[in-house]
Amino acid sequence: MHEVSAMAEIVVERASKSFGGKLAIDDVSLTVNDGEFLVLLGPSGCGKTTLLRAIAGLGMVDSGRVTIGGRDVTYLPAGDREISMVFQSYAIFPHMSVRGNIGFGLRMSKTPGDVIEERVEEAAALLHIEDLLDRKPSAMSGGQRQRVAVARALAMKAEVLLMDEPLSNLDALLRLEMRAELKRLLAEVNATTIYVTHDQIEALSMGDRVAVMREGVLQQVDRPSVVYDNPSNQFVGGFIGNPPMNFLDGVVKHAGGKVAVDLAGQAVTVGPSAPELDPYAGRAIRLGIRAENMETLATPAEDALRVRVDVVEPLGAQNLLTVTLRSDGPARHPMKVSTHPTFGAAAGQELWIRFPPEQIRWIDPQHRAGFALKALYLARYNPNPRLAEPTPATPRRFCKVRAAKAVRMPANHKP
Ligand SMILES: Nc1ncnc2c1ncn2[C@@H]1O[C@H](COP(=O)(O)OP(=O)(O)OP(=O)(O)O)[C@@H](O)[C@H]1O
Ligand SMILES: [Mg+2]
Repeated sequence: MHEVSAMAEIVVERASKSFGGKLAIDDVSLTVNDGEFLVLLGPSGCGKTTLLRAIAGLGMVDSGRVTIGGRDVTYLPAGDREISMVFQSYAIFPHMSVRGNIGFGLRMSKTPGDVIEERVEEAAALLHIEDLLDRKPSAMSGGQRQRVAVARALAMKAEVLLMDEPLSNLDALLRLEMRAELKRLLAEVNATTIYVTHDQIEALSMGDRVAVMREGVLQQVDRPSVVYDNPSNQFVGGFIGNPPMNFLDGVVKHAGGKVAVDLAGQAVTVGPSAPELDPYAGRAIRLGIRAENMETLATPAEDALRVRVDVVEPLGAQNLLTVTLRSDGPARHPMKVSTHPTFGAAAGQELWIRFPPEQIRWIDPQHRAGFALKALYLARYNPNPRLAEPTPATPRRFCKVRAAKAVRMPANHKP
């Protein structure tokens, strides 16, 4: 497929929309660069389809602005926006042949017949439905219909492609294959793409950047590795990753020239100093750590916490352990820990777990949204956070403003 040359940057500025008095999208600002593949991720009902429809022109925003390629399209009808969309509900014509469905948009835009034919075949081959071209969707499976919808959108070769859960009805193997093929194709076509999914693996593997949404509010927009490693708040850390990030509550202790966090009577030493924890001395802090970032030991060691193994789940490439921190009180602190499959562990056994300090993400438990201290710090003191560098746009601005506004920093906190 050939390259699209015109600029098709999508800019959403402070967009809000409510249904029956309830905000479906709440003051959303987002820039998708020309040719970028942005994945929109979030739980069911968080506003993903509403945002996509606002960009497509199928549901106007109540306030805010949408521009595509520098043109204000906020009030432009969908047909004039030169975008292509795959709907969550497919929206294909059941009694028109697959061939007719895929070529529909092209016929509407008066594309010459031979070009239509060529593009229909190309898109059908890509989605592995070339043998179904003369069938009617009414006589096809859900996954086959969904592929017709994706093929129709791709055949348009629009500069802007909006896809709402385009692979949700495919079996795991086909999904895996499509994921890679779509990624390759969209990089080739260079369309500006917003891709909605529930599937975090899809989000992390396909997106140039991932936008995480919750209850109509964007939580974080960044490269997949950043969203995974440095979630801006507890929601993002708990939503992305399988298993989600572990969170444990503790108390910051400064003693004997060391900074440590007391977790149910056991101490995690953070180091000789930890400036970001200074404001929390003697106070509650929440520790976040991913299952694969802990060291598991079969014997006691300095700085390793004693845990009991509750469940062992062999997953092939790794074993997933559910463990509970041995505590001096009634509180239970369950955690998920990944180990190499050859590491012997059985339910009921005791193990020791070490948290490498550089793998710990600190969360402010006092704050309702559970902001990560790093995000707080960047939001408050660094107008140009290093974490946002690799992409030229500045979509973090929205998160930053909200973080800075919403959070009261401890009085003795110094940058
Ligand atoms: N036409 C509508 N009328 C009333 N409420 C609506 C309408 N469309 C969406 N909503 C509500 O707006 C919120 C956001 O819905 P939306 O469809 O955008 O969610 P979503 O993130 O796409 O969810 P899913 O992952 O389940 O598709 C939900 O609370 C939903 O009930
Ligand atoms: Mg939806």
